[in-house]
Formats: sequence, structure tokens, C-alpha cells
Amino acid sequence: MTLQTDWSRSPIGIAGAGRVGQVLARMLRESRQPLACIASRTRERAREAAAGAGIEAASYAELPRRVSRILICVPDSALETVAGQVRPVAGLVLHTCGTRGPEALEAIRNPRVACGTLHPLQTIADAAAGADVLRGVAFAVAGDEPAVAWAEQIACLAGGRVLRIAAEARPLYHAAAVMGSNYVVALVAAARALMVAAGVEAVEALGALAPLARTSLENALRDPVAALTGPIERGDLETIEAHLRALRAAPEPIDQLYRAAGLEALAVARQRGLDAGCAGQVEASLRARLSGT
Ligand SMILES: NC(=O)c1ccc[n+]([C@@H]2O[C@H](COP(=O)([O-])OP(=O)(O)OC[C@H]3O[C@@H](n4cnc5c(N)ncnc54)[C@H](OP(=O)(O)O)[C@@H]3O)[C@@H](O)[C@H]2O)c1
Repeated sequence: MTLQTDWSRSPIGIAGAGRVGQVLARMLRESRQPLACIASRTRERAREAAAGAGIEAASYAELPRRVSRILICVPDSALETVAGQVRPVAGLVLHTCGTRGPEALEAIRNPRVACGTLHPLQTIADAAAGADVLRGVAFAVAGDEPAVAWAEQIACLAGGRVLRIAAEARPLYHAAAVMGSNYVVALVAAARALMVAAGVEAVEALGALAPLARTSLENALRDPVAALTGPIERGDLETIEAHLRALRAAPEPIDQLYRAAGLEALAVARQRGLDAGCAGQVEASLRARLSGT
């Protein structure tokens, strides 16, 4: 890549008017970046998103004529197709997919088009979320140097941090992101289901779990080893076996989740100094009906 041009003032376009595209649009606008337009498959959806960010709507095909820096924020499966449609003659292109590296843009990369990735390590569940949802988050960046420099600038505008992940480590990085986000949601959903099975109203269940879950998460984010409490931390085999008997009536994924997550909790308990014999008995109970062991 021999691109020497200074792209810092050139217009920016966003391809993909979904959750990430709209939130990035708001953040770039609020940071006074030269954001010109946002594109979607349909003019109507692009108009809605553009109105929300105070910019213009465009089609994918129009983008390369209007801007030379493009952020592609479409589902992973649509990446190559959309990249082929928005390819600028010269400029920078970034995509926001966490599982794919810069190689997903290889077909449009050339000495005048630098390509890279900008993956926000944040969950964006609502397209209407404010730009604040990106404040302070980590962004995984990779690719050609001019594209990476732009990605780092966006991370800096968000007050965030930059992560450089080796290409071969990208699946592990993304698995970590999934466990830190989607699996937290799965654990809360499972805890709610068990509360409801125990006779607590569904609405009441979440409210009752909230202080427990919030405090646990905050403590764990400071230090997971110091944060662990409960029967596994105490090596309380009697209580764990009572749970396992009760969970036979629960949906199988919840029983399996209890066992698998319990083994990870046990690894933490061992780091806290749980007696080896006691830990061995807990491990045997948790593994007893765990699939694949
Ligand atoms: N949401 C998150 O928490 C999050 C976090 C980090 C990274 N990401 C990544 O960011 C990217 C976008 O995610 P998102 O959550 O913003 O997705 P999304 O809300 O589903 O939005 C996707 C956008 O892409 C367009 N699109 C959908 N299918 C398409 C197709 N087959 N061809 C062309 N355009 C298509 C949609 O267009 P229409 O308007 O035409 O329907 C929509 O504008 C993904 O790679 C995702 O992995 C997401």
C-alpha cells in the first residue's frame, strides 16, 4: 500500500443504516467530522436514518461518487456484496464486522484504496441509541496503514481505546466479545427462567435479580477472583447437588449451562485456594451429566 494522500478532510459515507451505522453516524456528526451521507438498500430506510443523524440519504451505488472514506456497517454475510457496490476510485474503506478481518475487502483493495476494520467492542441493540453508547469503548482495528490511521482517529473521537488483534487470534477475540456480551444476556435469561419456575412472576423476577446481577458484574469487572461468592467458592457440595437434582426438571440447556459455567467458577475458586479434595468432588458432580465429558 503506497497511498500518501491526506484523507483527513475528505467526505465520509456510511454503508448500512442499521444499528451500528446509525450510532456511528451520530458520533461522527457530534464530533464535527465531514459526514456526508448514509446508504441503505432502500431509499426510505436511508432517509429515516439520515434524518436521525442530520445528513443526506444515498444508495449504495451513489456512495463512491459522493465520498472517499466509507464505513461499511452491514451484516457479515453481506460484506463482500456491499463492498463491491460502494468501492471508491481512491480512498479508505473500513468495515465493522468482528469476525472478519481486512481480507473481507480484498476484492476492492488496490494501491489507491486502503482497507481495514473498525470493530466496536460494544453491544448496540437499538438503532436510536445515542452516540454516548460508544464513549470509552475499545475498537479492534486492522488493515492497511492509512485505513488503520482513520480507524484509530474514530476510536480517539469516541474517547475509546484501540486493540490490535493478530489475524489468527481474531476468532478468539470475537469469542471473548460474545461471552462478555451475549452470554451475559443468556445467563440472565436462564436465571429468570429458573426464578419463574420457582414461582416468581416474570416481571418481578428481573427486578429481584437486578441488584444481584449488577453487583456481581461490577465486582467481576474489577477482579473476577475477588468477586466470586456462593456454594462453589465455599466448596459446598451438598448445596450444589441439591441444585443439580432440581435442575433435572429444567430445560436441558439450562442444566448444561449450570454445569459448564460451574466448572469455570470452580477454576476461579481453585485460584482462591479451595481445598483440592473438595474441588475434586465438586468437579465430579458438575461433570456427571455434562455432555461431551
Ligand atoms: N449491533 C452490534 O452490537 C454490533 C457491535 C459490533 C459490531 N457489529 C457488526 O456491525 C455490522 C452491522 O451490524 P448491525 O447490528 O448494525 O446490523 P443491522 O442493525 O442488522 O443493520 C445492517 C444494515 O445493513 C443492511 N443490510 C442488511 N442485509 C443486507 C444485505 N443482504 N445487503 C445489503 N445490505 C444489507 C441493512 O439494510 P436495510 O436497511 O436495507 O435493511 C441495515 O442497514 C455487522 O458486521 C455486525 O457484526 C454489530
